[in-house]
Amino acid sequence: MALSIIILAAGQGTRMCSALPKVLHEIAGKPLLEHVVETAAHLPGAQINVVYGHGGKLVPERLAHLAVNWVEQADQLGTGHAVMQAMPAVASADKVLVLYGDVPLIRAETLDRLLKVDGVALLTVSLEDATGYGRIERDQQGHICRIIEHKDASEQQKQIQEINTGIMACSAQQMSMWLERLDNNNSQGEYYLTDLIEMAVADGVEVISVAAQSEAEVLGINDRVQLAALERVYQQEQAQALMRAGVTVMDPSRLDIRGVVTTGQDVVLDINVILEGKVVLGEGIQVGANTSIRNCKIGDGVIIKQHCVLEDAEIGNDATIGPFARIRPEARLSEGVHIGNFVEIKKSIVGKGSKINHLSYIGDSEIGCDVNIGAGTITCNYDGAYKHKTIIGDNAFIGSDTQLVAPVTVGKGATIGAGSTITSDTPDNELSLSRSKQISLKGWRRPVKKPTENK
Ligand code: UD1
Ligand code: CA
Repeated sequence: MALSIIILAAGQGTRMCSALPKVLHEIAGKPLLEHVVETAAHLPGAQINVVYGHGGKLVPERLAHLAVNWVEQADQLGTGHAVMQAMPAVASADKVLVLYGDVPLIRAETLDRLLKVDGVALLTVSLEDATGYGRIERDQQGHICRIIEHKDASEQQKQIQEINTGIMACSAQQMSMWLERLDNNNSQGEYYLTDLIEMAVADGVEVISVAAQSEAEVLGINDRVQLAALERVYQQEQAQALMRAGVTVMDPSRLDIRGVVTTGQDVVLDINVILEGKVVLGEGIQVGANTSIRNCKIGDGVIIKQHCVLEDAEIGNDATIGPFARIRPEARLSEGVHIGNFVEIKKSIVGKGSKINHLSYIGDSEIGCDVNIGAGTITCNYDGAYKHKTIIGDNAFIGSDTQLVAPVTVGKGATIGAGSTITSDTPDNELSLSRSKQISLKGWRRPVKKPTENK
């Protein structure tokens, strides 16, 4: 039986108090719905349908990169009504799995277990506080008889702790047959998908429950408090995965991963590190506190000190960076490079062993090996209209407070005197400098204040 997945994502999410549809809110920088779609895509051969509605086309537009079939539910008349909208896209021989777009941490293994059940399968969990959820009513033999929504439940039924997660599976044939019989005679005037359970039982079809592995994987998000709580759960899981892979995480509650991190052994991540996008870490790397790294490849033995920001860059083995450095897109730092405090590097190649230790801006440059760039050096790469290139040869020494006005080339082994403004190419192995002559004024006196009269 082929698998058709229907993800319900049309609800408004009133309690988010947001202009954004609920399923576009994010966990770890990724929309809730995208988490669910990615998990669903792990199930082999699944065709994924997403029912959207509230917020109009915004959801399918923002998530146009997802390989799903978008189905509109113009009016949100209930979960049963939502599934009805998707059924025309489902082949009658398929099995149907219903997921919720606002239950982001559901695991593929749990869904696998649910799909192994013959007949109607329902994912349930027992909660200390079941307020708001549909309750699972069982007969004396323990067989499921029906689901009662919280708003329709008696005081006695409200005592039941086993709840409906909303996630269920059955054959498309059964689903269509029961949906046709659905009505909206309930306290909310909605077509409840949950009423299918009672119909199944009436037709003599057994409903089998599968227990969720953890509470977190079936928790839905209704407001921003729950959003923050699930964000923490997700981050803890990721931190644990890194620790199991040989990373020392100084405080797992102060690490945020918003993307995919691959890592070698013996990496140490200090507190408040943020890793975003695709981050590849080699072995034995140290990342200091309050540093964020986005889409970078970082070699073995690199030390990144506190308060650095790295984005779309490649760092060679044994380089040291920071504290307070900014490594911007297309920066390629070779092995053993030293970047110090208040240094910004953009779209530049820095050769092996070169040092830029203090207060510098290097943009659109090619810097050779073993170059020493003095404090306060600026590559003037922008003329107001175009960007130009600065090339610095191997072994060059750039004196402090130098401006290199691009396009310009500094020769190999060249020395630039401190305080120079270099506007034309300088020869190899020679000293070049541009500096106004120093003078001293004989007999000059510094002004002094007049003594005040009442003193
Ligand atoms: C639903 C279940 C309840 C279960 C709970 C678990 C029903 C009737 N009740 O209740 O038994 O315990 O989920 O969280 O199914 N949606 C649509 N279109 C609609 C209505 C809802 O797409 O017309 C989507 C929502 O966006 C959401 C999901 O379906 O993702 C659940 O809807 P919601 O209104 O949150 O249902 P609950 O009242 O929480
Ligand atoms: Ca809900």
